[in-house]
Amino acid sequence: MTQQHTINNRHVVVVGGSSGIGQAVAELASHAGARVTILGRKAKPAEGIAARQVDITETAQLAGVFAELGPIDHLVVTAGARIGSPALVDLQRDVLQLAFDTKLFAALFVIQAALPQLAERGSITLTSGLLSRKVSPGSLLKSTLNAAIEVMGKSLARELAPRRVNVVSPGVTDTAAWGEAASEVRQSTLLRIGAGLPLGRVGQPEEVAQAYLLAMQNEFMTGSVIDIDGGGLL
Ligand SMILES: NC(=O)c1ccc[n+]([C@@H]2O[C@H](COP(=O)([O-])OP(=O)(O)OC[C@H]3O[C@@H](n4cnc5c(N)ncnc54)[C@H](OP(=O)(O)O)[C@@H]3O)[C@@H](O)[C@H]2O)c1
Repeated sequence: MTQQHTINNRHVVVVGGSSGIGQAVAELASHAGARVTILGRKAKPAEGIAARQVDITETAQLAGVFAELGPIDHLVVTAGARIGSPALVDLQRDVLQLAFDTKLFAALFVIQAALPQLAERGSITLTSGLLSRKVSPGSLLKSTLNAAIEVMGKSLARELAPRRVNVVSPGVTDTAAWGEAASEVRQSTLLRIGAGLPLGRVGQPEEVAQAYLLAMQNEFMTGSVIDIDGGGLL
């Protein structure tokens, strides 16, 4: 019988760990005994979690940052720009550029910079989103971006083997990407969206974080896209 790999005492780096889903992954991994480092422009250390402030779109900085972090067992990338849902007629180049620079191109260059430090049997977990496979008016930008992330994950799973590469695809999740915590707009929007889901509610970041722990720990999992969306794709 094979044993599930534990992340106890492993070094987990969460790029985008300063808020939302990434922060929940960092906290869950820390509780599971991992040594955790978070990266983000506003990353701040917390109990048991080290932080390194970096803008991941500054490609030239990345190799130096990762060299300083030392050996890594698991790399998680949740970073993404907070963007709207413009229709084609309203699409501006700067928004398109920001979205792809932050979530797709930066993820690729983060992986490139992290590789010399990443254990041969280590893992990489990327983040897409349910719109990758659920299209509707206004989903153009996010659908295209998230579908690209999913293909990137599968392609890298081949190229970087035996390192494992997986993608977590969250559905609507209650984070600051939807507005400030107490804001009425965030609460009413998420209640409305949740009411249309099979489970009757949107997800919490702690629930989505469990999918990243699975991707880190299951040594037979690579090239997978893990949907965790309250049935949002159905
Ligand atoms: N929440 C949802 O409903 C949902 C649904 C589907 C998919 N997703 C995806 O899940 C991921 C996480 O979303 P979230 O809801 O947790 O959003 P979030 O709270 O806005 O987190 C985004 C993270 O990205 C980091 N980041 C952004 N630009 C960066 C840059 N240039 N350099 C370094 N770090 C940067 C931010 O850190 P700093 O501000 O410190 O830089 C922050 O930690 C995103 O890829 C999002 O597209 C979310």
